[in-house]
Amino acid sequence: MRQSLSELGERIAQGSGILELMDDLGKALSGHLPVRAMMGGGNPARVPAAEAVWRRRMEEILADGDAFERMVGIYDTPQGQPAFIRAVAGFVRRRYGWEVTPDHIAVTNGSQHGFFCLFNLLAGAQSGGALRRILLPLAPEYIGYADQGLHPDHFRSLRPTLEILPDRQFKYHVDFSRLDLGPEVAAVCVSRPTNPTGNVLSDGEVARLMEATRAADIPLLIDNAYGAPFPHILFRDIEPDWDEHVVLGLSLSKLGLPTTRTGIFIGPPALMKALSGLNAVMSLANGNLGQTLVAPLLEDGSLERLSREAVAPFYRERSERARAWFLAAFADLPQVRMHVCEGAMFHWYWFEGLPITSRDLYERLKRRGVLVVPGEYFFYGLEEDWPHRHECIRVNYAMDSGTVREGIAVIAEEVARAYGAG
Ligand SMILES: Cc1ncc(COP(=O)(O)O)c(C=O)c1O
Repeated sequence: MRQSLSELGERIAQGSGILELMDDLGKALSGHLPVRAMMGGGNPARVPAAEAVWRRRMEEILADGDAFERMVGIYDTPQGQPAFIRAVAGFVRRRYGWEVTPDHIAVTNGSQHGFFCLFNLLAGAQSGGALRRILLPLAPEYIGYADQGLHPDHFRSLRPTLEILPDRQFKYHVDFSRLDLGPEVAAVCVSRPTNPTGNVLSDGEVARLMEATRAADIPLLIDNAYGAPFPHILFRDIEPDWDEHVVLGLSLSKLGLPTTRTGIFIGPPALMKALSGLNAVMSLANGNLGQTLVAPLLEDGSLERLSREAVAPFYRERSERARAWFLAAFADLPQVRMHVCEGAMFHWYWFEGLPITSRDLYERLKRRGVLVVPGEYFFYGLEEDWPHRHECIRVNYAMDSGTVREGIAVIAEEVARAYGAG
């Protein structure tokens, strides 16, 4: 049989950053790739206090009449479980005072799925024939969006400004002088905290983005997969904000529930209705497990407490530990810096002037059994050439201490060799 794929099919079959990353991750975790240090993926760590809560909730469900049978045996509406949606709306109204009703909410099978739907509902070919794009105001941005546009030219991203900080740190900022929300921009999207860098856009930066998108009459998508109010893997204080043109993406994954595939979106009712409609086309309905597990914890406020008191400190401690190992391992290479880690589960290393690309470095590290993610994947949509995009890698700092320490030592050896210093 002659296999013929569509333009989209060819693009996806050709391979993508996320595919390669998930493939390496899957092979490493299933023992099919010899690995000393798996620091590539975004699998959340196991946080004992959170795991105890999920186990307790499961026991409660099993002990509660036919709650289990209803959970696994009944399709819900494509918008999500009505009781869960009421719990989410009630929680954000009480917690933040936002005027959120159930019509402002849509649940999806993971927030990844939800972002795919939103990007394609908003951008791409418009009914009049024009092309509109998603603007990412701060590259580098989450690799998982890169191939989500059905149009090959779905994203534009902007080069940030770069601030050098003490103690071998640096930080990206949105370069507002480059922000131009002309008619070709369908929506603006940021992850906060940012995957891959651990950057957290300041409240001031978010306020300016909210203002600019309001003036341009387009949605601002804020991806809180690591942020507030849960899982709250945040190491600086922020005040989340929302308005009728803002879409807030939340996820249960980084609380330790990635396989429940539960994404939650809070946004304008018309857009949430379109999202639920596309969800029905693609999935009929959502998995019920995550929603059933956490609904009571939203009602009594304990989900945010668990995030702040157990999940956040766990990651903060691991981040600080890995940063100390980074400083020790790279003591002799002053041109190497780390992005200030304000949240999420990654460290972002910058090897200024590295004579090889981060893709080459990735291959060298993989041969030594250390998996990281080469930085160039995160700069999609950036039109200008910027050598910086080949000089960074993302490492997951949250694995067990032996893994992370050994992984950092191997990275430092290979980087020293590449600079010709080792
Ligand atoms: C920034 C960001 N957004 C969204 C997702 C998707 O997560 P999920 O589909 O598990 O909710 C991830 C996963 O790693 C992420 O890092």
